[in-house]
Amino acid sequence: MLATLDAQTQAFRDDVLAGLAAAIPAIPARWLYDRAGSELFDAITKLPSYYPTRTETALLTSIMPEVAALIPTGTAVVEFGAGSATKTPILLDAIHPAAYVPVDISGDYLEDSAAQLSAGFPGLPVIPVTADFTRPFAFPALVADLPKLGFFPGSTIGNFVPRSATDLLRHFRELLGTGALLLIGMDRVKPVERLIAAYDDPDGVTARFNLNLIERINRELDGSIPPDAFRHEARWNDILSRIEMHLVATRDVAFSVAGQPFALHQGQSIHSENSHKYGRRGGRVLLLAGGWTPLAEWTDPAGDFAVILAEAQPNRSAP
Ligand code: AVI
Repeated sequence: MLATLDAQTQAFRDDVLAGLAAAIPAIPARWLYDRAGSELFDAITKLPSYYPTRTETALLTSIMPEVAALIPTGTAVVEFGAGSATKTPILLDAIHPAAYVPVDISGDYLEDSAAQLSAGFPGLPVIPVTADFTRPFAFPALVADLPKLGFFPGSTIGNFVPRSATDLLRHFRELLGTGALLLIGMDRVKPVERLIAAYDDPDGVTARFNLNLIERINRELDGSIPPDAFRHEARWNDILSRIEMHLVATRDVAFSVAGQPFALHQGQSIHSENSHKYGRRGGRVLLLAGGWTPLAEWTDPAGDFAVILAEAQPNRSAP
């Protein structure tokens, strides 16, 4: 029985019930990341077929001298969705910021990685903020008046549909203020076979990551979804330029979640994630629409992944 739910579980339940009742069943991708999901995602980032993490890490390392030259002294770094913050030391080492503010919804994870970073950067104020970075939150007093550099690596922006990605970028702009900078990673469009291999690895780690959503629903929302009635599928949606993850029913299946009955036919799916891939112009247009003017852009030699530095647009009308 689901007695009193904390706010997070309530939001999970509302999203799952609404998502399963929709004509095209879909659940927001953020619910993939409970502790098991976060660990599985960490394992994905180390897979040979999942190129984004190692490509972006190498790219950041090689461009850092150029990036650092463009960041004013006295800037505070604000990392959105810091998680395990593995790429952060590359940035902190190069730009010596006035403070580092990791923002993440998962307090546990955040405190651990903030403590580790603090130990590696003695003298740097590390001020973690437990918050949903898609919603307004207040900065700690120490950094409130400092110029800010937002750091949003990993192509996490790709997990938002363009309309929400634009809203998010605008929200970052409001939050970080006039004169702020943003360093953002975006995965590039590439041959479909490579994309599918990255999101449907031969070891089945991504499949476990996706199927963990079913286990989370069963555990946290008193669900009775048979996990063996679903399989992981990664699909390329060419018109929307994105990889989609689906949980496809392998047979007709009926189950309940939080006391509500649901049924899916064989072949029907629950859409569980989008990962948008951007071309050179598409990425820049997205930033411009979100209130950021691109200043510099770098890619790895193969053109697989891009890192863009952008500046908050001033509040004035333009022709
Ligand atoms: C976190 N995010 C950027 C990953 C991606 O590539 O979209 C999540 C992921 N899903 C499956 N594999 C990785």
